[in-house]
Amino acid sequence: MTASERSIAAAEAHSAHNYHPLPVVVASAEGAWMTDVEGRRYLDMLAGYSALNFGHSNRRLIDAAKAQLERVTLTSRAFHHDRFADFCTELAALCGKEMVLPMNTGAEAIETAVKTARKWGYRVKGVPDGQAKIVVADGNFHGRTTTIVSFSTDPEARADYGPYTPGFEIVPYGDLAALEAAVDEHTVAVLIEPIQGEAGVLVPPPGYLPGVRELTRARNVLFIADEIQSGLGRTGATFACEHEDVVPDMYVLGKALGGGVVPVSAVVADRDVLGVHRPGEHGSTFGGNPLACAVALEVIAMLRSGEYQRRATELGEHLHRELALLTGGDAVTAVRGRGLWAGVDINPARGTGREISERLMARGVLVKDTHGSTIRIAPPLVINKEDLDWGLEQLRAVLEG
Ligand SMILES: Cc1ncc(COP(=O)(O)O)c(C=O)c1O
Repeated sequence: MTASERSIAAAEAHSAHNYHPLPVVVASAEGAWMTDVEGRRYLDMLAGYSALNFGHSNRRLIDAAKAQLERVTLTSRAFHHDRFADFCTELAALCGKEMVLPMNTGAEAIETAVKTARKWGYRVKGVPDGQAKIVVADGNFHGRTTTIVSFSTDPEARADYGPYTPGFEIVPYGDLAALEAAVDEHTVAVLIEPIQGEAGVLVPPPGYLPGVRELTRARNVLFIADEIQSGLGRTGATFACEHEDVVPDMYVLGKALGGGVVPVSAVVADRDVLGVHRPGEHGSTFGGNPLACAVALEVIAMLRSGEYQRRATELGEHLHRELALLTGGDAVTAVRGRGLWAGVDINPARGTGREISERLMARGVLVKDTHGSTIRIAPPLVINKEDLDWGLEQLRAVLEG
């Protein structure tokens, strides 16, 4: 048995099978490259589902983390610490909002957004107690808690986890008329991903996001944008909503906010929304801890330079030009996406998304399949053009083979 095989067998024996990882055992990583326990190198074209937008072992982020590790890592919110105010001020400024509520994982931030919207509905909008409704989209992916899977339309994510949390209505993604019909006087929020990542990198039709903005404003409903995967540079802008000049009431952020170093998530909104929470009503032991704040502050400083958004725009144009060429043959049926982010639908006759991912792995490229026949491409934004081209060459070879 090789070291990889031993490690995989032990993981299979002693971990719950809630994932089906590709058979690679990573031992180290830098930039866009990972190295396995046998010393083989792989180009990372997934980037931790966009948590690694700034690449593996990013020097600035590692240095920020190391410096903070030597000072103080956790106080709990029972006390103030000296990185908290800067983190909240800087993140609010990046978002053009007034307040931040930090959590750890994406799902916790979505839960926080749901709780905030409901409380806002009862305290500010005047919705009768227990009647608040949140409208969400078909094909959504917002996390894995019992409340969040309650409004998932993916049977794999939802089945056998009931009883489900009420108070959500699901409408087709991209359909403004359906959204308008679903919004009523008890609706407190519309919660959507500006681009649906897990669904296969689905970009809504032009005009949809501005339409959601207009409708929610007119009906006194909060517009919550889940930018956990789409935000922080991935699409070539700080937020995917920017491509349509839309500013939601609430940003939900995660993944890249922690730079792939620590879990950091947050809800960011104005005072009239986030101001509804009072001490003791909501919180998290680790939310907003000094280590998280130190790393996130460096992430925010990097985003402020605009360099990563520019890279995602330029390399993304190249990526999509190259992928468009693949749609001419019979292997690729559709390509979607924005910036350095693409969903590639493979003709099922050429293999499942999983099989394509395995063949790519054998050629030194790591991607992740979704929904049977789609593969997602989302390399770290620090990838260089030569490596991206090499990765695309491997994809072409796999599809032609
Ligand atoms: C759009 C979106 N929202 C929420 C989440 C949940 O984040 P986490 O896995 O950190 O809980 C994800 C994770 O993939 C996501 O893509």
